[in-house]
Amino acid sequence: MSQALDFLSQRFAMPGLSFESGAGGLTTVKVRTAIASGELYLQGAHVTAWQPNGHDPVLWLSRASNYEKGKPIRGGVPICLPWFGPNATDASAPAHGSARVIEWEFVKADETDDGGIAIQLQAFIAPFQVRFGVEFGRELKMTLETSLPSGHSGPEKFEDALHTYFAVGDIRHVSIWGLEDASYIDKMDNAQIKLASGSPIEFSDETDRVYFDTLATSMLVDHGRDRMITVGKSGSKSTVVWNPWINKSIRMPDFGDNEWPEMVCIETANVGKNAIDLSPGESHSTTAMISVVMID
Ligand code: BG6
Repeated sequence: MSQALDFLSQRFAMPGLSFESGAGGLTTVKVRTAIASGELYLQGAHVTAWQPNGHDPVLWLSRASNYEKGKPIRGGVPICLPWFGPNATDASAPAHGSARVIEWEFVKADETDDGGIAIQLQAFIAPFQVRFGVEFGRELKMTLETSLPSGHSGPEKFEDALHTYFAVGDIRHVSIWGLEDASYIDKMDNAQIKLASGSPIEFSDETDRVYFDTLATSMLVDHGRDRMITVGKSGSKSTVVWNPWINKSIRMPDFGDNEWPEMVCIETANVGKNAIDLSPGESHSTTAMISVVMID
C-alpha cells in the first residue's frame, strides 16, 4: 500500500516532522528538532540521514545511488530481511531480501522524552509481520521486530541486518574496536572461519567479514574526522564489517568509483549460524543504538 503525501502530512506531521517528495519522487520523512536531524524513505523504511545537532552527518550516502521504485538506495541503513546476501535457493530473488525495496506503511510518530522524534513503520514480508521503529535523537535507535503470525503453519527461519553505512574521513585511518574476541567468516578468503584476532580492525584492502556469536558493542575510531561512533546492539549475534575497496567499487554501478575511502559498514545482524528461528506467534527484535562523540 502506498500512502499519499497529502494524507501523510495531514495525519502525522508535527513540529519537527514533515513529509516530502525526495530524490526520484520517492516519499521521505524529514526530522529536524532542537537536538537532531534525520531522514527516512518509506521505500525500504530506509534511514538515509541522522546527525545530532552540532555534528557532521554520521551516515554515508553514495552520490551514485539509485532513487527508484524497487531499487535499493546505496548508503544510510538498508534493512536486510528475511535473508542476507543472495537467496539460498532462488538466484533471481533480490539480494539481502525484499525489505529494502518495498514500500513500508507509516504507522505513527511521537515526541520522545528528550525532545527527539520516534517513528514506527510496518510491512508484511511473507510470512512475517514486521515493525521498524526509529528514534531520531541524540542517539539513533533502530528496532526491527519480526513476528510470525500465530496462524502460520509451522516454524520459519530468517536472517536480518541493519546494514549501516558510516561516513568516515578516510577508511585507511580508522579502526574498529570491540570485535577483538570474536571469530569471523572471511568472505575475502573463501568464507573460511578465522579465529579472533585479538586486535582492532584496520583496513588496507577489500574487507567483508561476518563476526558471529558476538553481542559486543563496536567503536569506530575515525582519526580523519576526530570522532568516535559507537554501535551498541541487542537481539543481534552477528556483526558484519564491509568496505568494497577499489575494484568492487568500480564493479558496482550505484557506488562511485572513488567513494570507497569515505565509508565503512558496521551491520547489526543475525546471519548464517545466527539466523533466527520463530514458531507461530513468536517475535524477535534486533536493535542498534548509535551515538557519536568528538575525540582529540
Ligand atoms: C555486505 C555484504 O553486507 O553488503 C557484501 O557482506 C555485499 O558481500 C554488501 O557486497 C553490499 O551488498 P549490496 O547487495 O547492497 O550490493
